[in-house]
Amino acid sequence: MVMATTILVGAQWGDEGKGKIIDVLTEQADVVVRYQGGNNAGHTVEVGDQKYVLHLIPSGILHPGKISVIGNGVVVDPAALLGEIEHLRGRGVSIDGNLYVSETAHLVFPYHKLLDEIREEQKGKRKIGTTKRGIGPAYADKVARTGLRLVDLLATERFSGKLRRKVQENNEIFKAFGAKPLSFAKINDEYVECGRKLRPFITDTVTLLNRAVRDGKNILFEGAQGTLLDIDFGTYPFVTSSNATAGGACVGTGVPPHKVDRVVGVMKAYTTRVGEGPFPTELLDNQGTLLRETGREFGATTGRPRRCGWFDAVATRYAVMVNGIDELAVTKLDVLDGLPKVKVCVAYKVGGKVYETVPNDIDLLQRCTPMYQEFDGWQTSTKLAQDFDQLPKRARVYLQKLAQLSGAKLSIVSVGARREETIFL
Ligand code: GDP
Ligand code: IMO
Ligand code: MG
Repeated sequence: MVMATTILVGAQWGDEGKGKIIDVLTEQADVVVRYQGGNNAGHTVEVGDQKYVLHLIPSGILHPGKISVIGNGVVVDPAALLGEIEHLRGRGVSIDGNLYVSETAHLVFPYHKLLDEIREEQKGKRKIGTTKRGIGPAYADKVARTGLRLVDLLATERFSGKLRRKVQENNEIFKAFGAKPLSFAKINDEYVECGRKLRPFITDTVTLLNRAVRDGKNILFEGAQGTLLDIDFGTYPFVTSSNATAGGACVGTGVPPHKVDRVVGVMKAYTTRVGEGPFPTELLDNQGTLLRETGREFGATTGRPRRCGWFDAVATRYAVMVNGIDELAVTKLDVLDGLPKVKVCVAYKVGGKVYETVPNDIDLLQRCTPMYQEFDGWQTSTKLAQDFDQLPKRARVYLQKLAQLSGAKLSIVSVGARREETIFL
């Protein structure tokens, strides 16, 4: 795979294995940049016998000498970021001089987290199943033009004035819900202290990234979440509050569209989803349990069991379209190794009507049942395969079918969580 300025996106509902593929691709990149989301993300990277779970810091940080950037489109919980920095430092990962955070990225505050919780509670059965990291309310403040940014954090007086008003405003809401008011002084002290510690990392990343582009450096854009969780293109309202799709990479970093060379879409060889919302191929029987156990499908951020189901080619075809995916990385093939039969959803059905695209009406999507094409399983371990030809014939047939139905070129196959367990085509 030739490296070029590349956007990497999740092509399903998140947790596709983006962290692992980013880690593998970072070798050929100079700069890795997160462009949206916050610490709702959980990206797992296994290096040797070490396992890292990254939430805000790009997965590229594990490669010494590469630059990692948290772009303007990300929402930053500064205490969470400092926690992650300390944790990585403690494990010997070099951070200082390698990590930059955008001064125009918005901040997540305790009132965002509390609002996230209250709104979920209020929704009752209609809840989204958020990660409760305050992501939705933080982006809401950004769009309402009442947010605070990292650049504000560095101007202490201005910051405190704005924060005082925000805490007052939110305490009125908390009062109405019978929740305890938050203390301005406590939040202010905590954030000012965070600002002091984060100061060396905070910079004008838009200029930094565009200089890198001008100098011919390879940029790797690390998408968080997935296409079907995108605020515009996902299964609204069961989505996250940012643009996880490729378009988000430009607005979330300030790198213009024509500087991007290609888009890589990461997808599992089956499908998972955490939280609520429609999931046409979900398996509620033993088969789903088997996938969850074999694939160790438990949330990297919240530890929640992930809902599991067969590969949904209607969803991935849509992802290829809205992201302009050129190349596919299919992960977790090994999880299917033991199965006698494997299924792929090729269309949805409601009543007598067949849908080959994802319906935008959420109630209609909830009622969709999958139409499957069935494949014989390969029932052989794929874990040791080093190139495509070493995979069992039936696994190759399955993979080519996933690529063909999705409408992009198969480029990477992952057969295990570790760096070495990766096949390049
Ligand atoms: P992300 O959010 O897209 O980065 O994905 P997560 O890290 O949340 O979830 C993917 C999980 O699958 C992690 O535990 C990875 O270590 C693991 N993983 C990634 N690729 C493979 C693979 O090819 N095979 C197996 N068995 N596990 C994988
Ligand atoms: P990565 O980057 C999977 C889901 C939540 C919930 C919805 C909204 O690891 O793929 P939010 O807290 O963002 O307001 O929750 O989105 N969600 C994810 N699901 N992987 C993620 O990130 C997710 N980030 C958010 O479970 O359904
Ligand atoms: Mg994840």
